[in-house]
Amino acid sequence: MNHKLLCTTAQKATSYTIEIHKDLLDQPDFLFQQLSPLGSRFVIISDKVVADLHGNKFQKSLAQLGLKASLFSFPNGEQNKTRATKDQLENQLFEKGFGRDICIIALGGGVSTDLGGYLAATYCRGVPLVMIPTSLLGMVDASIGGKTGLNVPYGKNLVGSIYQPKKVLIDPSTLQSLPLKELRNGVVEMIKHGLILDNAHFNYLNEHADRILALDSTILEKAILDSCCIKRRIVEQDEKEGGIRNLLNFGHTVGHALEHMTHYSLTHGEAVAIGILVESHLALQLGHLNLKDFDMILSIFKKYGLPLQLPTSPSIPDLLKGMTLDKKSLKGKPRFVMIHAIGSALTCDEAYCMPVEENVLINALNWMNNDLCCH
Ligand SMILES: NC(=O)c1ccc[n+]([C@@H]2O[C@H](COP(=O)([O-])OP(=O)(O)OC[C@H]3O[C@@H](n4cnc5c(N)ncnc54)[C@H](O)[C@@H]3O)[C@@H](O)[C@H]2O)c1
Repeated sequence: MNHKLLCTTAQKATSYTIEIHKDLLDQPDFLFQQLSPLGSRFVIISDKVVADLHGNKFQKSLAQLGLKASLFSFPNGEQNKTRATKDQLENQLFEKGFGRDICIIALGGGVSTDLGGYLAATYCRGVPLVMIPTSLLGMVDASIGGKTGLNVPYGKNLVGSIYQPKKVLIDPSTLQSLPLKELRNGVVEMIKHGLILDNAHFNYLNEHADRILALDSTILEKAILDSCCIKRRIVEQDEKEGGIRNLLNFGHTVGHALEHMTHYSLTHGEAVAIGILVESHLALQLGHLNLKDFDMILSIFKKYGLPLQLPTSPSIPDLLKGMTLDKKSLKGKPRFVMIHAIGSALTCDEAYCMPVEENVLINALNWMNNDLCCH
């Protein structure tokens, strides 16, 4: 089944469609119809792995359609989502003489869509952008909502912009080449969507873990569609992240600090899964979440085979310090999304996050170090 979702933004002109089509990259008529109005020259930005697996073929398909396309790649991995990589790509584009008439196609996982997106936001003060996510995480999360950016030595995603794509094109068949570890990363964000807003989605993911991990296309496409709808519902209400969009940050206050402290040896999804558990532990301690729901959250991550392990026990003072840089922090104090049941989060007077006493946070981090990760 093909699906078309409209993602509406405050300024109608920047609204865009999300198309979910199996084998979309092999449908020349559809590609031509989607892309030809957007520019006279196309620049595909992909990491090297995706460039080799899908980018070269995609570039050739565009050429066969008479669309001029060039492919630029960078080494894969979160450690390359940097200013240096963006500089290098920009220099390569300038050297080739590309100007404002290009359309950038960010093809790849969340690193490629964040980096390619930020490049599009700033190149010649902004050129049209198309997102073609090829990782599950990219499909259900990173490509929707317009957030683009990169990491700096002080933390993750600290430099960037909100820049809406013209289109998001999702081809679930590209997941056939995605390593299992990366598939799990996307599942974590889908689980997060269920936890913050949609109990039925959580239950669907819980019931169909085996088939999702086996890439059963019918089940997986429904899970992708439902997750995209949840993400769309949130970003439509809060384009610039002043309120409900904070919910999408569930698990990320702790997760980002862990990722940064472990020098990205944990994948984003692995760190966020642990972050979700630590932040659920806060909710448990504060009496918002019951033990049955907490145990279900732990059990779904185990069902999907998330490692829930840290290379070493991180120092709690360092983690606390790392969290103060989180974007939700207020007056130097981190704030946390607080779920009170599976599928429901506290609104916290429309802030959708709240500070917690330091001793409660330390208890949750001790639970992570002593009970969850290092036994
Ligand atoms: N902008 C947002 O709203 C948003 C939301 C969530 C996450 N993110 C960002 O997304 C990033 C994580 O995304 P990710 O997990 O996709 O990471 P990623 O882009 O690094 O992709 C993970 C790995 O999978 C490979 N890959 C991607 N698609 C493939 C395919 N079809 N076949 C084989 N290999 C493939 C990549 O080469 C890479 O090695 C983080 O930087 C995170 O901050 C952004």
